Order: sequence, then C-alpha cells, then structure tokens
Amino acid sequence: MARMSPIAIELVRTPPEAATAMGVGVFADRLDDGDAPDGVDPAFLAAQGFKGKPGQTCVVPGEDGGLIVALGLGPEADVAVATYRKAAAALARAASRCPHLAVDLFDTVPERLARRDVAQALAEGILLGAYRYTALKSDPERSHLESLAVVGTGGAKVRAALERGQAVAEAVCLARDLVNQPGGSLTPTAFATRAEEVGALRHFGVEVLDRNAIEAEKLGGLLGVNRGSEEEPRFVRLSWAPERARGTVALVGKGITFDSGGLSLKTTEGMVGMKGDMAGAAAVLATFSALDAVRPPVRVLGYLPLTDNMPGGDATRVGDVLRIRNGTTVEVLNTDAEGRLVLADGLSLASEDEPDAIVDLATLTGACMVALGTRVAGVMGNHEGFVDAVRAAADTAGEAVWPLPLPADMRRQIDSDVADIKNVAGARWGGALIAGLFLQEFVADGIPWAHLDIAGPAEASEDDPEARKGGTGFGVRTLLELLAGFRKPAKAGAAS
Ligand code: BES
Ligand code: MN
Ligand code: ZN
Repeated sequence: MARMSPIAIELVRTPPEAATAMGVGVFADRLDDGDAPDGVDPAFLAAQGFKGKPGQTCVVPGEDGGLIVALGLGPEADVAVATYRKAAAALARAASRCPHLAVDLFDTVPERLARRDVAQALAEGILLGAYRYTALKSDPERSHLESLAVVGTGGAKVRAALERGQAVAEAVCLARDLVNQPGGSLTPTAFATRAEEVGALRHFGVEVLDRNAIEAEKLGGLLGVNRGSEEEPRFVRLSWAPERARGTVALVGKGITFDSGGLSLKTTEGMVGMKGDMAGAAAVLATFSALDAVRPPVRVLGYLPLTDNMPGGDATRVGDVLRIRNGTTVEVLNTDAEGRLVLADGLSLASEDEPDAIVDLATLTGACMVALGTRVAGVMGNHEGFVDAVRAAADTAGEAVWPLPLPADMRRQIDSDVADIKNVAGARWGGALIAGLFLQEFVADGIPWAHLDIAGPAEASEDDPEARKGGTGFGVRTLLELLAGFRKPAKAGAAS
C-alpha cells in the first residue's frame, strides 16, 4: 500500500553502493575485550569515548569515503528487541544529513530474539528517530533520509516485518503531529476533518457527529465541557473490520484540543502543553491509520469526544450538574477535571455497542505523573486478565506502563450531595485512582476495560533517541500490539 512517508525501506543481501552511512552493532562487553566489527578500529572508538552503551553512536570515517556508524547495543546478554529500536533511532539522528542509510546488524541478533521482531523494531526506530515537527518553521531543519537498506537474508517474513514497522512508525508520527499542532488550529472541527481524510486514505469508517447530533445523542458531558467555548464540539466514531473477526475491541480517546481548565482556570505554566490534551484521541486515530497495514484479527471501534475546555461567559459553573449519555448525573465541582466528563459519554457509547473489551487512553491527571513520573503510563481496569494483556502488549511494544489499583472503598469519595456522583473528591490524594473510579461508573458491567492514564508519557520534555521534545505518540504501539494478539478475555475475574 502507499505510504505517507517517502522513506523506502528494503531488505538487501549486500549493502547497496548508494549507502552513504552504514550502521553496525557494537556490544559493550565485546568492545571491552578489544573486539569490534569489520572496518572499525576499537582504539578509535575508545578515543571518541564510545563505550557501546544502548543508544550511543560513533561516526567512523570509512575507507571509501562513506561513513560507518557504530551503534551501541550494551552488553550482549541484555540485548532486547527494544535495543535495536533505540539503535536504529540513534542512527537516524547521527546520520540525519545522509539520504541513504544501511544497517548491517542481523549478525548480532541472539538466537532468543526473532529476526522478524528485530526487523520491525529497526524500521520503527529509523522513522521515529528521523521525526521532526516542522510544519510551522519558516526554515525547517529537515531530515534528509530517503532510504534505508537492511542488510540480511530472511525473505518474506522479514520483509513483511519491515513493512509493518514502517506502518506502525508512521502511525506514531501522525499522533505526534496531532499533539504538536497548536490548539488554536487543531480545533475539534479540524480534528474531525483530519479523521475523515485519514479514514479515506487508510480505509476505515469515520462518522462525525456535529453539535446537533451530539445534543440528539444526549452527550451531556461533552456538551457541558464545550459550553465555555466558541468552538463547536465534535464526536467522531471510527470503525474497521477484517473479513473474519475474532471479536470487537473499543478504543476511547480523550480529545480535549486545549485545556485551559475552564472556570477552574489553570495558571499560565499549567496551560503550557495543554494543546496536547487530545493525545488519547490522537493515539486512537493514529492506531486506526495503521489497521489496514497491520491487519489485526479483530473488529475495532473508536470513540473520540472532541472539544476544548474554555472559560467563556456561559461556561459550565462550579456546582452545575450534567447528565451523561447513560443517564448518570454528575456534579461538576472542578471544571478542570473535564477529561472524565467527556470520556464518560465515550465509555457509555462504547458500552452500548457491547464490545469484547474497552481500552481508553487519556492525559487525565497530574496525579498520575506524581505517582509514576513523566515516562510511565498508569494502567487501571476492572478485569485483571485484560489489564495483564495490555501490560504484556506495552512490554512487547517497548512502551512503559505500570498498574495502579481501583480501590472499591475509595468510590464513596465521589458521592455527591445533589447528583449521582461528583467529578472530584474532596481530598487530592490518589487523584489518578479517583479519576479511574469515576470512569468505571460508565463502563457497562461485564465488559473488560482498561484505562491508560498517559498524562506523563504523551509528551516529552526533552529529546531522546526515539522521540523529540513534544508529542511522543505514546500508546499507538501498545494498541496495535494488543489488537494484533487479541484474545477474548475470560468472563468475570474482577480486579482489585
Ligand atoms: N489535562 C489535565 C491533566 C494533565 C496535567 C495532563 C498535566 C498532562 C499534564 C486534566 O484535565 C486536569 O486538569 N486534571 C486535574 C484534575 C484535578 C482538577 C482533579 C489535575 O490533574 O490537576
Ligand atoms: Mn483539566
Ligand atoms: Zn485535561
């Protein structure tokens, strides 16, 4: 299929002449023993301070005028698929001025790793490492990368894995672009239009509900959050199905295109980065963009509530009560806890479609960042087996998630005096769990559900080999991995 990025990735037996920079893998412990790949002088590497650490690179001038790039892989015993993703990303950055790259490191892949997985990781790493958000720069510093030749044998399976890696990485980059686009230009209507364009290109269904349709569908959470805004809300439904589906998975993404806090206004510092409060919705749309290439054996449905959260003259007041799609009434005691209000409508609609499982992704709470830092997402849910499946998928995909509990005895902290439930607890302790307990109210009984709080990892505060400062596209790889290996979770088995 036609790819969005112009970068060609090929499997070749010998490095092509055009390769201007060739990445070779170097194990840290072999280097200590004075051993290095052909054409690379270990003394030169040592003089450059290269120790073979994962993600470390060292450019070595080759004999024929080309470049060799030594790629650190760490100690041989520790090498994992993720090591190769990181090494490829580091290569893309070290050789960003070279249009044609090659990597020759299949020889370093230990028996215990599947070459297919390494091939996928190499393709992902190259594209993720080359990513830049340049749309708004007058004089952008572009990546010159045009092609990557992967040296090795392996045939159709390895080739397919390279293609899959490319599709996955392009999806991640789409999510990054959406997160990086300012809130004043990526409005809810613009996001919905983008979804329609991507759907047409990548062959999945897109249905856009405008304000009237949202009112007709009684999405009171979305309407309540939108009330202070001049921008209309949208609700986007996505759908994709293979010929024979093993089940149905629903994906719900928080789509706050800018979060000012509403009347519970944030500080300026608190608003920086809040153009990225639609990272959950971006991850879901981006995941759909790769389904036609990855072809998981399940039907996939997507639900994206889109609005900004603004403090306009008729904004939802503190103390107002909203009625969510499923009939639950919610007292809004803090308009900055808006994500859970729009997700409540999304989870209600998803539940009505009776999927075999639901996953939601949301930049939901600062509290989750206090608990787990900026690089690890929190995962919560109502079904231990399904939460474990999400954790396993994240592990394989190389994204960090860690479980948090949903203690039943904390639920009474969101009992309301006037409505069925309130949107914040009185105390601030355990804010990520309170948000999770709130969301759980809108998941129909018996549907396995996992909630990913991606407030930390959705945006990076500094460059690293695989991601630039800004949107990371977190969640896309995990979702694609989860869908590809999906099995219906066993009935019952409630968690915590
Ligand atoms: N979008 C924010 C959460 C967030 C904070 C994401 C920082 C990324 C970085 C969310 O809507 C929010 O404002 N949450 C409040 C909840 C509180 C009012 C209960 C928070 O975390 O402070
Ligand atoms: Mn908020
Ligand atoms: Zn928010």
